[in-house]
Amino acid sequence: MAFNPCCRILLSMTLLWVQHYLPSVANAKIPPNITTDRDALLALKARISYDPHSILANNWSTNVSVCDWVGVTCGFSHHRVTVLDLSFMGLVGTIPPHVGNLSFLVTLAIPNNSFHGSIPIELAHLYRLRILYFRFNNLDGEIPSGMGLLSRLEYLNLANNHFTGTIPSSLSNLTSLYLFALSYNALSGSVPSSFFNLSRLQGIYLAGNKLSGPIPSISYNMPSIQTIDLRDNEMSGELPKNMFDHLPNLQDLVSENQLDGGLPSSLFKCKQLQYLSLWSNKLTGRLPTEIGNLTALRVIYLDLNNFEGRLPLEIGNLGMLIDMALSNNSFEGRVPLEIGNLTMLTILYLSDNHFEGEIPSEVGNLRNLKVLNMGRNNFDGAIPFEIFNITTIRIIDLTLNKLSGHLPSNIGLFLPNVQRLFPNWHNSELYI
Ligand SMILES: *[C@@H]1O[C@H](CO)[C@@H](O)[C@H](O)[C@H]1NC(C)=O
Ligand SMILES: *[C@@H]1O[C@H](CO)[C@@H](O)[C@H](O)[C@H]1NC(C)=O
Ligand SMILES: *[C@@H]1O[C@H](CO)[C@@H](O)[C@H](O)[C@H]1NC(C)=O
Ligand SMILES: *[C@@H]1O[C@H](CO)[C@@H](O)[C@H](O)[C@H]1NC(C)=O
Ligand SMILES: *[C@@H]1O[C@H](CO)[C@@H](O)[C@H](O)[C@H]1NC(C)=O
Ligand SMILES: *[C@@H]1O[C@H](CO)[C@@H](O)[C@H](O)[C@H]1NC(C)=O
Ligand SMILES: *[C@@H]1O[C@H](CO)[C@@H](O)[C@H](O)[C@H]1NC(C)=O
Ligand SMILES: *[C@@H]1O[C@H](CO)[C@@H](O)[C@H](O)[C@H]1NC(C)=O
Ligand SMILES: *[C@@H]1O[C@H](CO)[C@@H](O)[C@H](O)[C@H]1NC(C)=O
Ligand SMILES: *[C@@H]1O[C@H](CO)[C@@H](O)[C@H](O)[C@H]1NC(C)=O
Ligand SMILES: *[C@@H]1O[C@H](CO)[C@@H](O)[C@H](O)[C@H]1NC(C)=O
Repeated sequence: MAFNPCCRILLSMTLLWVQHYLPSVANAKIPPNITTDRDALLALKARISYDPHSILANNWSTNVSVCDWVGVTCGFSHHRVTVLDLSFMGLVGTIPPHVGNLSFLVTLAIPNNSFHGSIPIELAHLYRLRILYFRFNNLDGEIPSGMGLLSRLEYLNLANNHFTGTIPSSLSNLTSLYLFALSYNALSGSVPSSFFNLSRLQGIYLAGNKLSGPIPSISYNMPSIQTIDLRDNEMSGELPKNMFDHLPNLQDLVSENQLDGGLPSSLFKCKQLQYLSLWSNKLTGRLPTEIGNLTALRVIYLDLNNFEGRLPLEIGNLGMLIDMALSNNSFEGRVPLEIGNLTMLTILYLSDNHFEGEIPSEVGNLRNLKVLNMGRNNFDGAIPFEIFNITTIRIIDLTLNKLSGHLPSNIGLFLPNVQRLFPNWHNSELYI
């Protein structure tokens, strides 16, 4: 009895299917166990080309359970590898795809080694991962977009490697993230705005890449965000007007880029802001009176921009300030007396502006000052004697102003820590 041709084809297809799939179906029935983990770790060990302290060479012995290996932690009940921590071991090598078989892994930490090569896409299988910490290695290639599948990831730190390409937008699916650090790589393209929709995110660190385009506008309330660090990129455009309406708990804003436009008024709602570093942009406009609302500020770097106008006397509210750098702008007018309220200041840079009038004697109240640079302005009048009561001072630069008067002859007595003193040699009446 002959088979109907059609059924013969069907039968042979079924046989093919059985031959092809049965072995893997059989494999799948043996659940991965600690042997799988051991094989993965041995594959990793085999990829280590240099182990300066022979840590793995001596310790990762197959005589003992992998759970006793240095850097390896196993789960209490299921006896599978949950933590692989090879931090600071000086290891040179690559990451084999087998690491993707450590299916119970929660923490994968290899910071401060010399792992090179790319991230195997198999790591996207590690769906239990919460911590992925690869900082300070030599890893390169693109960040696999499959990493967007690691939905439990809370801490993603790939900083200080050589990753290229763009930031995969799939990473904005990592809704559990609280830290997102890709600083000091060679990433390009723009910052996907969808990152500013991760409700647990506390810190975004993207400094030292080649990121371009505008800072994305933020349209969701992000009370969790404390730090945004975009320094040393090539981002341009204005700070989005309403950006800071949604960042009520922002503490650190760092962006040395090519930004232009003014400081948006929403910025002054960030009452928790402590560190505002926007130096070396192309920012314009005035420092508004609302600057005085940022009473938590400890550091303000606005130097090397195109700011103009007078300093509002409200800067006197910023009593927590330690560093203030406003040099190389077009600020003008008198320096408000209220500057004397900033008694915690250690660094005051007002140089290379168009300030005029007398240097307020209240500067003498700044009894923690180490550096006072008011050079290259239009200050006139006498140098206030009170400055010489600041015994902590190490550098005073008052060059290229229109100052007059005498400096005390025993200036070294007054200022025991002074290392450099720049009197205005263009002022004929000034001498030491
Ligand atoms: C683990 O699985 C392998 C097959 O992958 C098997 O040979 C071995 O017996 C299993 N070991 C344990 C402890 O279950
Ligand atoms: C490997 O290191 C661990 C932790 O330091 C130690 O407890 C264990 O005895 C070492 N094993 C071997 C074989 O050296
Ligand atoms: C592991 O076994 C080898 C022999 O197979 C032995 O020489 C070595 O000392 C053993 N190492 C440990 C840590 O037990
Ligand atoms: C583990 O991963 C490697 C490479 O990704 C693969 O070849 C191997 O079959 C996997 N499975 C086991 C049980 O080791
Ligand atoms: C980690 O490596 C970097 C770069 O090599 C180095 O600057 C840093 O001090 C290292 N950290 C530690 C804790 O060793
Ligand atoms: C995020 O995940 C959803 C489903 O989980 C998927 O449809 C979407 O494509 C993912 N987004 C990105 C940018 O990968
Ligand atoms: C932001 O998150 C909200 C709620 O989680 C969601 O509805 C919205 O689609 C997200 N928007 C973007 C641009 O991802
Ligand atoms: C600054 O503070 C004053 C007084 O607390 C408040 O009225 C004003 O709205 C604040 N400005 C901004 C931009 O938050
Ligand atoms: C300066 O400090 C004094 C008290 O030392 C305070 O009364 C005054 O309001 C402050 N001025 C400003 C502008 O903050
Ligand atoms: C600051 O301005 C002065 C005078 O215009 C200029 O000589 C100096 O190079 C500027 N500093 C920087 C870092 O550009
Ligand atoms: C500066 O110090 C001298 C004593 O060295 C003191 O007599 C004078 O009152 C001080 N001036 C100010 C403004 O504190």
